[in-house]
Amino acid sequence: MTDIPGAAVLETKGLCKNFGALVVAKDIDFALEPGARHAVIGPNGAGKTTFVNLLTGALPPTSGAVLLDGRDIAGLAEHERVKRGLVRTFQINTLFNGLTVLENIYLTVAERMGVATGLFRPVGSRPEVVAEAERLVEMVQLQDDAGKTIDELPYGRQRLVEIAIALALEPRVLLLDEPSAGVPGAESHIILDAIAALPADIAIMIIEHDMDVVFRFAERITVLVSGAVLASGAPDEIAADERVRAVYLGHGHGQGHGQGQGHG
Ligand SMILES: Nc1ncnc2c1ncn2[C@@H]1O[C@H](COP(=O)(O)OP(=O)(O)OP(=O)(O)O)[C@@H](O)[C@H]1O
Ligand SMILES: [Mg+2]
Repeated sequence: MTDIPGAAVLETKGLCKNFGALVVAKDIDFALEPGARHAVIGPNGAGKTTFVNLLTGALPPTSGAVLLDGRDIAGLAEHERVKRGLVRTFQINTLFNGLTVLENIYLTVAERMGVATGLFRPVGSRPEVVAEAERLVEMVQLQDDAGKTIDELPYGRQRLVEIAIALALEPRVLLLDEPSAGVPGAESHIILDAIAALPADIAIMIIEHDMDVVFRFAERITVLVSGAVLASGAPDEIAADERVRAVYLGHGHGQGHGQGQGHG
């Protein structure tokens, strides 16, 4: 089963990627509707992160197409895709550890607004940028930490800053690759709460191993196995799919991601 194409904001058609003899994306047809809450799941090594990299332009496909608003974006570099609203969360090491939460977000907002920052324009000197940065801080509920430096924050809250920075880029499509990976269980709910509270008009694709999270969040689920779409559909269809169950009961457990409880 594949997704029905139509008013998709982001789509792939026959997307393939090989690393030498290794096939990591195999003829993937995928569609993300405006405002979607779409989870991509699959065992370790299934090709989920590779798929994100193909969408963002970090990797060129071997064949097939990525379409944004129905238009093939093969010719667009990563930053040009970001400008058109296709945004992924940044890796943690892109944060400035010695700067505060607010300052980190300020810098991204300033860049997006085309406002200069630098030696003679200290971070925080533009009120309209500060106001927008504060709005984003509130959106991920980091008000109490706004003045703390990144290295003072627990890991889970650092990941919230990443989400705020992604939001600062005004995404129409937000790609979240395991947003709570590495976050201690006691803290992971703050990430999930922030994701649940994201603006409804942003189309969200989340890669997630925790099936409780997937089934709580997703309105649509795509299962990738060995680079190919095994199944795609509503959560109840996926939960009832024998092939999906076989994958998860067969070798989806015990790989350190805590997946699988309560939905088999
Ligand atoms: N740059 C690369 N060169 C060669 N092989 C790669 C490269 N990147 C990924 N792979 C391989 O492609 C396959 C898919 O990897 P990918 O990281 O996309 O999986 P994943 O589904 O995100 O896994 P996980 O759940 O562990 O994050 C793996 O076998 C991986 O070793
Ligand atoms: Mg991955």
